[in-house]
Amino acid sequence: MIRLTPNPDELDPIERASLDELRAVQLERLQWSVRHAYDNVRHYRSALDGAGVHPDDIRELDDIAKLPFTTKADLRDNYPFNMFAVPRTQVARVHASSGTTGKATVVGYTKADLDMWASVMARSIRAAGGRSGHVLHNAYGYGLFTGGLGAHGGAERLGCTVVPVSGGMTERQVQLITDFEPDVIMVTPSYMLNIVDEMERQGIDPRTTSLQVGIFGAEPWTNEMRAAMEERLDIHAVDIYGLSEVVGPGVAQECVETKDGLHVWEDHFYPEIIDPVTGHVLPDGERGELVFTSITKEAMPVLRYRTRDLTRLLPGTARPMRRIEKITGRTDDMIILRGVNLFPTQIEGLVMTVPELTPHFECVLERSGNLDALTVRVEREASASLDSTRAAGSHLCKLVKNKIGVTIAVEVVEPGAIERSVGKMKRVVDNRPKK
Ligand code: DLL
Repeated sequence: MIRLTPNPDELDPIERASLDELRAVQLERLQWSVRHAYDNVRHYRSALDGAGVHPDDIRELDDIAKLPFTTKADLRDNYPFNMFAVPRTQVARVHASSGTTGKATVVGYTKADLDMWASVMARSIRAAGGRSGHVLHNAYGYGLFTGGLGAHGGAERLGCTVVPVSGGMTERQVQLITDFEPDVIMVTPSYMLNIVDEMERQGIDPRTTSLQVGIFGAEPWTNEMRAAMEERLDIHAVDIYGLSEVVGPGVAQECVETKDGLHVWEDHFYPEIIDPVTGHVLPDGERGELVFTSITKEAMPVLRYRTRDLTRLLPGTARPMRRIEKITGRTDDMIILRGVNLFPTQIEGLVMTVPELTPHFECVLERSGNLDALTVRVEREASASLDSTRAAGSHLCKLVKNKIGVTIAVEVVEPGAIERSVGKMKRVVDNRPKK
Protein backbone atom coordinates (compact mmCIF):
# COMPACT_ATOMS: atom_id res chain seq x y z
CA MET A 1 0.00 0.00 0.00
CA ILE A 2 1.07 3.59 -0.52
CA ARG A 3 2.45 5.61 2.35
CA LEU A 4 -0.08 8.33 3.13
CA THR A 5 1.95 10.77 5.20
CA PRO A 6 5.21 11.89 3.59
CA ASN A 7 8.43 11.99 5.60
CA PRO A 8 9.20 15.63 6.41
CA ASP A 9 12.47 15.38 4.47
CA GLU A 10 10.54 14.48 1.30
CA LEU A 11 8.71 17.82 1.35
CA ASP A 12 9.84 21.05 -0.27
CA PRO A 13 11.16 23.35 2.50
CA ILE A 14 8.25 25.76 1.92
CA GLU A 15 5.79 22.92 2.66
CA ARG A 16 7.23 22.89 6.18
CA ALA A 17 7.62 26.66 6.58
CA SER A 18 5.81 28.79 9.14
CA LEU A 19 3.05 31.10 7.97
CA ASP A 20 5.26 34.10 8.68
CA GLU A 21 7.96 32.69 6.44
CA LEU A 22 5.40 31.96 3.72
CA ARG A 23 3.90 35.47 3.88
CA ALA A 24 7.35 37.06 3.68
CA VAL A 25 8.22 35.04 0.56
CA GLN A 26 4.85 35.96 -0.96
CA LEU A 27 5.25 39.69 -0.38
CA GLU A 28 8.68 39.81 -1.94
CA ARG A 29 7.50 37.80 -4.94
CA LEU A 30 4.27 39.76 -5.33
CA GLN A 31 6.22 43.02 -5.47
CA TRP A 32 8.49 41.53 -8.12
CA SER A 33 5.57 40.20 -10.17
CA VAL A 34 3.59 43.45 -10.18
CA ARG A 35 6.68 45.39 -11.18
CA HIS A 36 7.51 42.84 -13.89
CA ALA A 37 3.98 42.97 -15.35
CA TYR A 38 3.87 46.77 -15.20
CA ASP A 39 7.26 47.23 -16.84
CA ASN A 40 6.79 44.66 -19.61
CA VAL A 41 3.12 44.27 -20.54
CA ARG A 42 1.36 47.19 -22.13
CA HIS A 43 -2.03 45.96 -20.91
CA TYR A 44 -0.93 45.97 -17.26
CA ARG A 45 0.77 49.33 -17.49
CA SER A 46 -2.40 50.99 -18.80
CA ALA A 47 -4.70 49.03 -16.45
CA LEU A 48 -2.64 50.04 -13.39
CA ASP A 49 -2.22 53.62 -14.57
CA GLY A 50 -5.99 53.74 -15.20
CA ALA A 51 -6.65 52.52 -11.64
CA GLY A 52 -4.16 55.04 -10.25
CA VAL A 53 -1.95 52.37 -8.73
CA HIS A 54 1.78 51.91 -9.10
CA PRO A 55 3.96 48.87 -8.29
CA ASP A 56 5.52 50.90 -5.43
CA ASP A 57 2.08 50.98 -3.78
CA ILE A 58 2.32 47.25 -2.98
CA ARG A 59 3.84 47.45 0.51
CA GLU A 60 1.98 44.60 2.15
CA LEU A 61 0.01 41.60 0.88
CA ASP A 62 -3.38 43.25 1.42
CA ASP A 63 -2.36 46.02 -0.99
CA ILE A 64 -3.10 43.50 -3.73
CA ALA A 65 -6.74 44.67 -3.51
CA LYS A 66 -5.64 47.98 -5.08
CA LEU A 67 -4.83 46.22 -8.35
CA PRO A 68 -7.45 45.97 -11.10
CA PHE A 69 -8.76 42.52 -12.04
CA THR A 70 -7.72 40.65 -15.15
CA THR A 71 -10.38 38.72 -17.07
CA LYS A 72 -10.51 36.23 -19.90
CA ALA A 73 -11.64 39.10 -22.15
CA ASP A 74 -8.32 40.87 -21.47
CA LEU A 75 -6.47 37.76 -22.62
CA ARG A 76 -8.61 37.51 -25.76
CA ASP A 77 -8.11 41.20 -26.56
CA ASN A 78 -4.38 40.63 -26.41
CA TYR A 79 -4.43 37.52 -28.59
CA PRO A 80 -2.12 35.86 -29.27
CA PHE A 81 1.07 37.09 -27.54
CA ASN A 82 0.46 40.58 -26.19
CA MET A 83 0.14 39.48 -22.58
CA PHE A 84 3.69 38.15 -22.65
CA ALA A 85 6.21 39.98 -20.48
CA VAL A 86 9.32 38.58 -22.15
CA PRO A 87 10.51 38.68 -25.77
CA ARG A 88 8.87 35.90 -27.81
CA THR A 89 12.27 34.26 -28.29
CA GLN A 90 12.38 33.51 -24.55
CA VAL A 91 9.03 31.74 -24.65
CA ALA A 92 9.83 28.05 -24.58
CA ARG A 93 6.28 26.79 -24.97
CA VAL A 94 2.70 27.95 -25.49
CA HIS A 95 -0.56 26.27 -24.55
CA ALA A 96 -4.06 27.38 -25.44
CA SER A 97 -7.60 26.74 -24.32
CA SER A 98 -9.97 25.87 -27.12
CA GLY A 99 -12.55 28.45 -26.05
CA THR A 100 -16.15 27.62 -26.86
CA THR A 101 -16.74 31.09 -28.27
CA GLY A 102 -14.33 33.21 -30.26
CA LYS A 103 -10.59 33.05 -30.06
CA ALA A 104 -8.56 30.68 -27.96
CA THR A 105 -6.73 31.98 -24.91
CA VAL A 106 -3.00 31.61 -25.33
CA VAL A 107 -0.57 31.22 -22.45
CA GLY A 108 3.24 31.14 -22.55
CA TYR A 109 6.09 29.77 -20.44
CA THR A 110 9.80 30.54 -20.22
CA LYS A 111 12.18 27.69 -19.38
CA ALA A 112 12.10 28.86 -15.75
CA ASP A 113 8.27 28.80 -15.81
CA LEU A 114 8.27 25.22 -17.10
CA ASP A 115 10.70 24.33 -14.33
CA MET A 116 8.45 25.94 -11.69
CA TRP A 117 5.38 24.17 -13.17
CA ALA A 118 7.12 20.78 -13.05
CA SER A 119 8.09 21.42 -9.44
CA VAL A 120 4.55 22.32 -8.29
CA MET A 121 3.12 19.39 -10.26
CA ALA A 122 5.67 17.02 -8.69
CA ARG A 123 4.66 18.43 -5.30
CA SER A 124 1.02 17.79 -6.17
CA ILE A 125 1.58 14.18 -7.20
CA ARG A 126 3.58 13.57 -4.04
CA ALA A 127 0.82 15.13 -1.90
CA ALA A 128 -1.57 12.71 -3.61
CA GLY A 129 0.58 9.75 -2.56
CA GLY A 130 2.71 9.36 -5.69
CA ARG A 131 6.42 8.63 -5.21
CA SER A 132 9.57 8.23 -7.20
CA GLY A 133 9.53 4.78 -8.79
CA HIS A 134 5.76 4.63 -9.24
CA VAL A 135 4.28 3.89 -12.64
CA LEU A 136 1.93 6.77 -13.53
CA HIS A 137 -0.75 6.39 -16.21
CA ASN A 138 -1.45 9.87 -17.57
CA ALA A 139 -4.79 10.03 -19.40
CA TYR A 140 -5.11 13.82 -19.41
CA GLY A 141 -5.14 15.07 -22.99
CA TYR A 142 -1.74 15.94 -24.49
CA GLY A 143 -1.45 18.92 -26.82
CA LEU A 144 -2.55 22.51 -26.41
CA PHE A 145 -4.56 21.56 -23.29
CA THR A 146 -2.33 21.97 -20.24
CA GLY A 147 -3.48 18.74 -18.55
CA GLY A 148 -1.36 16.14 -20.34
CA LEU A 149 1.99 17.88 -20.61
CA GLY A 150 1.58 19.58 -17.24
CA ALA A 151 1.02 16.31 -15.40
CA HIS A 152 3.75 14.69 -17.48
CA GLY A 153 6.40 17.24 -16.46
CA GLY A 154 5.58 16.83 -12.78
CA ALA A 155 5.54 13.04 -12.91
CA GLU A 156 8.94 12.96 -14.58
CA ARG A 157 10.31 15.46 -12.09
CA LEU A 158 9.13 13.32 -9.20
CA GLY A 159 10.84 10.28 -10.70
CA CYS A 160 7.81 8.31 -11.83
CA THR A 161 7.72 6.04 -14.87
CA VAL A 162 5.25 8.00 -16.99
CA VAL A 163 2.86 6.28 -19.40
CA PRO A 164 1.80 9.20 -21.66
CA VAL A 165 -1.46 7.72 -22.95
CA SER A 166 -3.46 10.95 -23.33
CA GLY A 167 -7.27 10.73 -23.57
CA GLY A 168 -9.34 8.42 -25.76
CA MET A 169 -9.16 4.84 -27.05
CA THR A 170 -10.72 3.55 -23.86
CA GLU A 171 -10.18 -0.15 -24.61
CA ARG A 172 -6.48 0.49 -24.93
CA GLN A 173 -6.45 2.46 -21.66
CA VAL A 174 -7.73 -0.66 -19.93
CA GLN A 175 -5.21 -2.87 -21.71
CA LEU A 176 -2.32 -0.63 -20.63
CA ILE A 177 -3.54 -0.47 -17.04
CA THR A 178 -3.71 -4.28 -17.00
CA ASP A 179 -0.31 -4.78 -18.64
CA PHE A 180 1.82 -1.94 -17.18
CA GLU A 181 0.36 -2.12 -13.67
CA PRO A 182 0.41 1.60 -12.84
CA ASP A 183 0.24 2.76 -9.21
CA VAL A 184 -1.20 6.17 -10.05
CA ILE A 185 -3.69 7.36 -12.65
CA MET A 186 -4.22 10.99 -13.66
CA VAL A 187 -7.43 11.66 -15.58
CA THR A 188 -10.63 13.68 -15.45
CA PRO A 189 -13.16 12.07 -13.11
CA SER A 190 -15.72 11.76 -15.92
CA TYR A 191 -13.27 9.91 -18.15
CA MET A 192 -12.26 7.69 -15.22
CA LEU A 193 -15.90 6.59 -15.07
CA ASN A 194 -15.73 5.55 -18.70
CA ILE A 195 -12.54 3.62 -18.12
CA VAL A 196 -14.14 1.81 -15.17
CA ASP A 197 -17.22 0.96 -17.24
CA GLU A 198 -14.92 -0.43 -19.93
CA MET A 199 -13.05 -2.56 -17.36
CA GLU A 200 -16.35 -4.07 -16.28
CA ARG A 201 -17.41 -4.61 -19.88
CA GLN A 202 -14.20 -6.61 -20.38
CA GLY A 203 -14.95 -8.65 -17.26
CA ILE A 204 -12.17 -7.06 -15.19
CA ASP A 205 -12.97 -6.30 -11.56
CA PRO A 206 -11.82 -2.65 -11.17
CA ARG A 207 -10.93 -3.33 -7.53
CA THR A 208 -8.26 -5.81 -8.58
CA THR A 209 -6.10 -3.52 -10.75
CA SER A 210 -2.71 -2.26 -9.55
CA LEU A 211 -4.02 1.31 -9.19
CA GLN A 212 -3.70 2.84 -5.73
CA VAL A 213 -4.27 6.54 -6.33
CA GLY A 214 -6.39 8.54 -8.76
CA ILE A 215 -5.57 12.24 -9.22
CA PHE A 216 -8.77 13.67 -10.65
CA GLY A 217 -9.42 17.22 -11.81
CA ALA A 218 -9.98 19.68 -14.66
CA GLU A 219 -13.73 19.63 -13.91
CA PRO A 220 -15.92 19.80 -10.82
CA TRP A 221 -16.68 16.59 -8.94
CA THR A 222 -18.18 15.90 -5.58
CA ASN A 223 -17.26 14.08 -2.38
CA GLU A 224 -20.11 11.67 -3.16
CA MET A 225 -18.37 10.88 -6.45
CA ARG A 226 -15.10 10.42 -4.54
CA ALA A 227 -16.71 7.85 -2.24
CA ALA A 228 -18.15 5.99 -5.24
CA MET A 229 -14.83 5.92 -7.13
CA GLU A 230 -12.85 4.84 -4.07
CA GLU A 231 -15.29 2.00 -3.50
CA ARG A 232 -15.49 0.91 -7.12
CA LEU A 233 -11.74 1.00 -7.77
CA ASP A 234 -10.36 0.40 -4.28
CA ILE A 235 -8.12 3.47 -4.60
CA HIS A 236 -7.55 6.83 -2.97
CA ALA A 237 -9.23 9.52 -5.07
CA VAL A 238 -7.85 13.05 -4.63
CA ASP A 239 -8.62 16.36 -6.27
CA ILE A 240 -6.24 18.46 -8.38
CA TYR A 241 -7.06 21.98 -9.53
CA GLY A 242 -5.53 24.39 -11.97
CA LEU A 243 -6.18 26.58 -14.95
CA SER A 244 -4.13 27.48 -17.98
CA GLU A 245 -4.09 31.20 -17.31
CA VAL A 246 -2.42 30.64 -13.94
CA VAL A 247 -0.11 27.78 -15.01
CA GLY A 248 -2.20 24.65 -15.74
CA PRO A 249 -2.74 21.71 -13.37
CA GLY A 250 -0.84 21.96 -10.08
CA VAL A 251 -2.17 25.27 -8.72
CA ALA A 252 -3.82 23.45 -5.81
CA GLN A 253 -3.81 19.85 -4.66
CA GLU A 254 -5.58 17.77 -2.10
CA CYS A 255 -3.36 15.78 0.28
CA VAL A 256 -4.15 12.08 0.45
CA GLU A 257 -3.71 11.91 4.21
CA THR A 258 -6.50 14.43 4.86
CA LYS A 259 -8.68 14.68 1.71
CA ASP A 260 -10.12 17.88 3.10
CA GLY A 261 -9.85 20.34 0.23
CA LEU A 262 -6.97 21.48 -1.94
CA HIS A 263 -3.86 23.25 -0.67
CA VAL A 264 -3.04 26.19 -2.89
CA TRP A 265 0.67 26.31 -3.69
CA GLU A 266 0.68 29.83 -2.35
CA ASP A 267 4.41 30.33 -2.76
CA HIS A 268 3.67 30.70 -6.51
CA PHE A 269 -0.06 31.57 -6.80
CA TYR A 270 -1.66 34.08 -4.45
CA PRO A 271 -5.38 33.37 -3.92
CA GLU A 272 -8.23 35.70 -3.01
CA ILE A 273 -11.99 35.21 -2.81
CA ILE A 274 -14.17 38.05 -4.04
CA ASP A 275 -17.85 38.75 -4.24
CA PRO A 276 -18.49 37.99 -7.93
CA VAL A 277 -20.97 40.87 -8.21
CA THR A 278 -19.29 43.72 -6.32
CA GLY A 279 -15.69 42.55 -6.71
CA HIS A 280 -15.02 43.17 -3.00
CA VAL A 281 -12.51 40.90 -1.29
CA LEU A 282 -14.22 38.48 1.11
CA PRO A 283 -12.63 37.18 4.31
CA ASP A 284 -11.31 33.61 4.41
CA GLY A 285 -14.14 31.16 5.01
CA GLU A 286 -16.70 32.99 2.87
CA ARG A 287 -17.80 31.61 -0.47
CA GLY A 288 -17.21 33.56 -3.62
CA GLU A 289 -15.17 33.72 -6.81
CA LEU A 290 -11.57 32.58 -6.73
CA VAL A 291 -9.00 35.10 -8.00
CA PHE A 292 -5.31 34.36 -8.57
CA THR A 293 -2.18 36.42 -8.90
CA SER A 294 0.92 34.63 -10.14
CA ILE A 295 3.93 35.73 -8.13
CA THR A 296 6.82 33.95 -9.86
CA LYS A 297 5.78 33.55 -13.49
CA GLU A 298 8.01 35.20 -16.08
CA ALA A 299 6.44 34.78 -19.52
CA MET A 300 2.85 35.57 -18.66
CA PRO A 301 2.28 37.07 -15.24
CA VAL A 302 -1.38 37.36 -14.26
CA LEU A 303 -2.57 39.96 -11.77
CA ARG A 304 -5.84 39.20 -9.97
CA TYR A 305 -7.13 36.87 -12.63
CA ARG A 306 -10.85 36.16 -12.20
CA THR A 307 -11.25 32.38 -12.51
CA ARG A 308 -15.09 32.36 -12.30
CA ASP A 309 -14.71 29.30 -10.06
CA LEU A 310 -16.71 29.35 -6.87
CA THR A 311 -15.26 28.13 -3.57
CA ARG A 312 -13.91 29.42 -0.26
CA LEU A 313 -10.51 29.67 1.40
CA LEU A 314 -9.82 27.63 4.52
CA PRO A 315 -6.74 27.48 6.77
CA GLY A 316 -3.96 24.98 6.05
CA THR A 317 -4.02 21.50 7.59
CA ALA A 318 -1.60 18.94 6.14
CA ARG A 319 0.45 21.86 4.74
CA PRO A 320 0.78 25.48 5.90
CA MET A 321 -0.78 26.81 2.69
CA ARG A 322 -4.49 27.68 2.70
CA ARG A 323 -6.96 25.25 1.18
CA ILE A 324 -9.77 25.79 -1.26
CA GLU A 325 -12.89 23.78 -0.71
CA LYS A 326 -13.87 21.52 -3.61
CA ILE A 327 -15.10 23.81 -6.40
CA THR A 328 -18.91 24.05 -6.48
CA GLY A 329 -18.93 25.16 -10.10
CA ARG A 330 -18.21 28.09 -12.34
CA THR A 331 -20.29 31.23 -12.38
CA ASP A 332 -20.94 30.40 -16.07
CA ASP A 333 -22.35 26.96 -15.17
CA MET A 334 -24.78 28.30 -12.63
CA ILE A 335 -28.36 27.49 -13.55
CA ILE A 336 -30.91 30.01 -12.30
CA LEU A 337 -34.27 28.29 -12.09
CA ARG A 338 -37.17 30.41 -10.92
CA GLY A 339 -34.84 32.45 -8.75
CA VAL A 340 -32.96 29.47 -7.30
CA ASN A 341 -29.26 29.08 -8.07
CA LEU A 342 -28.27 25.55 -8.93
CA PHE A 343 -25.03 23.86 -9.95
CA PRO A 344 -24.56 20.53 -11.74
CA THR A 345 -22.39 19.40 -8.79
CA GLN A 346 -25.45 19.60 -6.53
CA ILE A 347 -27.32 17.31 -8.93
CA GLU A 348 -24.31 14.98 -9.01
CA GLY A 349 -24.26 14.78 -5.22
CA LEU A 350 -27.92 13.70 -5.20
CA VAL A 351 -27.71 11.33 -8.20
CA MET A 352 -24.90 9.48 -6.43
CA THR A 353 -27.20 8.68 -3.50
CA VAL A 354 -29.72 6.78 -5.69
CA PRO A 355 -28.41 3.23 -6.25
CA GLU A 356 -30.52 2.55 -9.38
CA LEU A 357 -28.95 5.55 -11.16
CA THR A 358 -25.45 5.96 -12.60
CA PRO A 359 -23.26 9.08 -12.50
CA HIS A 360 -23.80 9.54 -16.25
CA PHE A 361 -26.16 12.48 -16.44
CA GLU A 362 -26.71 15.81 -18.16
CA CYS A 363 -28.74 18.90 -17.31
CA VAL A 364 -30.95 20.01 -20.20
CA LEU A 365 -32.28 23.55 -20.02
CA GLU A 366 -35.36 24.55 -21.98
CA ARG A 367 -37.69 27.51 -22.06
CA SER A 368 -41.35 26.75 -21.46
CA GLY A 369 -43.44 29.90 -21.79
CA ASN A 370 -41.62 32.55 -19.82
CA LEU A 371 -39.96 30.12 -17.48
CA ASP A 372 -36.82 28.05 -17.70
CA ALA A 373 -37.22 24.32 -17.15
CA LEU A 374 -34.54 21.82 -16.22
CA THR A 375 -34.61 18.16 -17.14
CA VAL A 376 -31.95 15.90 -15.70
CA ARG A 377 -31.34 13.01 -18.09
CA VAL A 378 -29.64 10.25 -16.16
CA GLU A 379 -28.70 6.71 -17.11
CA ARG A 380 -30.06 3.81 -15.12
CA GLU A 381 -27.89 1.06 -13.70
CA ALA A 382 -27.90 -1.81 -16.20
CA SER A 383 -28.88 -4.27 -13.48
CA ALA A 384 -31.84 -2.23 -12.15
CA SER A 385 -35.36 -3.31 -13.10
CA LEU A 386 -37.58 -0.99 -15.11
CA ASP A 387 -39.99 -0.46 -12.22
CA SER A 388 -37.25 0.40 -9.78
CA THR A 389 -35.69 2.90 -12.20
CA ARG A 390 -39.04 4.66 -12.61
CA ALA A 391 -39.27 4.97 -8.85
CA ALA A 392 -35.65 6.13 -8.74
CA GLY A 393 -36.48 8.94 -11.18
CA SER A 394 -39.27 10.30 -9.03
CA HIS A 395 -37.12 9.84 -5.93
CA LEU A 396 -34.44 12.07 -7.51
CA CYS A 397 -37.10 14.70 -8.32
CA LYS A 398 -38.14 14.72 -4.67
CA LEU A 399 -34.55 14.92 -3.44
CA VAL A 400 -33.91 17.95 -5.64
CA LYS A 401 -37.13 19.59 -4.48
CA ASN A 402 -36.34 18.94 -0.81
CA LYS A 403 -32.61 19.72 -0.80
CA ILE A 404 -32.34 22.47 -3.40
CA GLY A 405 -35.89 23.76 -3.33
CA VAL A 406 -36.71 23.67 -7.00
CA THR A 407 -38.88 21.52 -9.26
CA ILE A 408 -37.14 19.69 -12.07
CA ALA A 409 -38.02 16.86 -14.42
CA VAL A 410 -36.00 13.65 -14.42
CA GLU A 411 -35.73 11.41 -17.45
CA VAL A 412 -34.14 8.03 -16.71
CA VAL A 413 -32.46 6.83 -19.89
CA GLU A 414 -30.91 3.57 -21.06
CA PRO A 415 -27.25 2.71 -20.33
CA GLY A 416 -25.02 4.38 -22.91
CA ALA A 417 -27.56 7.08 -23.87
CA ILE A 418 -25.56 9.99 -22.44
CA GLU A 419 -22.58 11.07 -24.50
CA ARG A 420 -19.29 10.02 -22.88
CA SER A 421 -16.38 12.42 -22.44
CA VAL A 422 -12.73 11.60 -23.02
CA GLY A 423 -11.68 14.77 -21.24
CA LYS A 424 -13.83 17.44 -19.66
CA MET A 425 -17.48 16.54 -19.39
CA LYS A 426 -20.09 19.02 -20.58
CA ARG A 427 -22.86 18.74 -18.00
CA VAL A 428 -25.22 21.47 -19.20
CA VAL A 429 -27.05 21.36 -22.51
CA ASP A 430 -28.69 24.72 -23.04
CA ASN A 431 -31.58 24.49 -25.50
CA ARG A 432 -33.09 27.83 -24.56
CA PRO A 433 -33.59 30.28 -27.41
CA LYS A 434 -30.63 32.66 -27.69
CA LYS A 435 -31.40 36.12 -26.35
O1 DLL B 1 -8.28 22.14 -16.69
C1 DLL B 1 -6.01 22.41 -15.93
C2 DLL B 1 -6.08 21.08 -15.28
C3 DLL B 1 -5.71 19.95 -15.97
C4 DLL B 1 -6.46 20.98 -13.94
C5 DLL B 1 -5.74 18.72 -15.35
C6 DLL B 1 -6.47 19.75 -13.32
C7 DLL B 1 -6.11 18.63 -14.01
P1 DLL B 1 -8.21 24.75 -18.18
O2 DLL B 1 -8.50 23.91 -19.36
O3 DLL B 1 -7.68 26.12 -18.39
O4 DLL B 1 -7.14 24.04 -17.27
O5 DLL B 1 -9.52 24.81 -17.32
C8 DLL B 1 -9.53 25.45 -16.08
O6 DLL B 1 -11.24 23.93 -15.23
O7 DLL B 1 -11.09 27.31 -14.11
C9 DLL B 1 -12.12 25.19 -13.46
O8 DLL B 1 -13.35 25.75 -13.91
C10 DLL B 1 -11.97 23.80 -14.03
N1 DLL B 1 -11.23 22.95 -13.11
C11 DLL B 1 -9.94 22.58 -13.15
N2 DLL B 1 -9.65 21.75 -12.11
C12 DLL B 1 -10.79 21.61 -11.39
C13 DLL B 1 -11.16 20.90 -10.22
C14 DLL B 1 -7.27 22.82 -16.66
N3 DLL B 1 -10.30 20.12 -9.56
C15 DLL B 1 -10.89 25.32 -15.44
N4 DLL B 1 -12.42 21.03 -9.76
C16 DLL B 1 -10.94 25.92 -14.07
C17 DLL B 1 -13.32 21.80 -10.41
C18 DLL B 1 -11.80 22.38 -12.02
N5 DLL B 1 -13.04 22.47 -11.54
